[in-house]
Amino acid sequence: METANSVREAFELTGRVAVVTGAASGLGRSSAQVLAGAGASVVCADINAEGAKKSAQEIVDAGGKAVGVGIDVSRSEEHEGLVEEALRLGQRLDVWCNSAGIMAESKVLDMPEADLDALVSVNVKGTLFGAQAAGRYMSDHGGGSIINMASAGMLVPSPNIAAYAMSKGAVVQLTRIMALEVGKKNIRVNAVAPGFVPTNMTSRYYVRDDGTEDEAMKQMVLEPMAKFAPMKRVGAPSDIGYCVLYLASDASSFLTGQILSPNGGVAMH
Ligand SMILES: NC(=O)c1ccc[n+]([C@@H]2O[C@H](COP(=O)([O-])OP(=O)(O)OC[C@H]3O[C@@H](n4cnc5c(N)ncnc54)[C@H](O)[C@@H]3O)[C@@H](O)[C@H]2O)c1
Repeated sequence: METANSVREAFELTGRVAVVTGAASGLGRSSAQVLAGAGASVVCADINAEGAKKSAQEIVDAGGKAVGVGIDVSRSEEHEGLVEEALRLGQRLDVWCNSAGIMAESKVLDMPEADLDALVSVNVKGTLFGAQAAGRYMSDHGGGSIINMASAGMLVPSPNIAAYAMSKGAVVQLTRIMALEVGKKNIRVNAVAPGFVPTNMTSRYYVRDDGTEDEAMKQMVLEPMAKFAPMKRVGAPSDIGYCVLYLASDASSFLTGQILSPNGGVAMH
């Protein structure tokens, strides 16, 4: 019988170790905080090493265990270092969340090849390399949970984001095929496909060069986004962090190859 204790334990990550890329900002930062709040020791990794260290320090200041490290996820050779950081932090590796990502916008007819190359390097190769490093370790150590950040952008065709949506479509198929291949090793591979969440990635529409926010512009961007969603709001980073927690925890132990879609209802599949 399920009890209050068994239900709490299903979401409990005490004694486990997680790596989160893109942890200096936005959804990665929130995911790292939520995983730490559930008891995990967290390696916060980001190309912005200072930001990663700041995120880790915030977790430590809140009573958790974390370390911040620099990594460029597009460089395959750097991922082994993250596995080593996880082992240094907690002698194991249970969860790997690939949240590092970038965005570029253009019409298809004008898409600069360099934008596509950058999106493939970071969003596609960066996710693949992280999943490989995690999967290789987890294959030899009893399994684990790998979580990739996709996007509602690959479910809802929107103008100007073809290159980004293509990169996230690749993340989804990587997730499904890897799940097929590593299930027998007790490794689960799932993706989260968030709807619009105000973060550094999306605030470029209303943040001025000096870093201040243009309030009028912010309303112009966020209001239609909120109206478009059946839930009538945009997302908060923690909406995504809690999905990551679910996928990281034993509560989702029968779930693999799936795309969880915290998007307020903008896309249903
Ligand atoms: N915010 C949204 O509305 C939204 C919606 C759907 C999907 N996503 C996805 O969620 C993920 C996180 O996005 P976010 O909104 O938190 O953006 P963000 O810009 O706030 O955070 C992204 C982080 O990735 C890091 N990063 C970028 N390139 C890197 C590299 N080469 N190596 C290591 N780190 C790198 C950045 O420094 C940054 O800290 C991305 O994959 C994004 O595509 C975001």
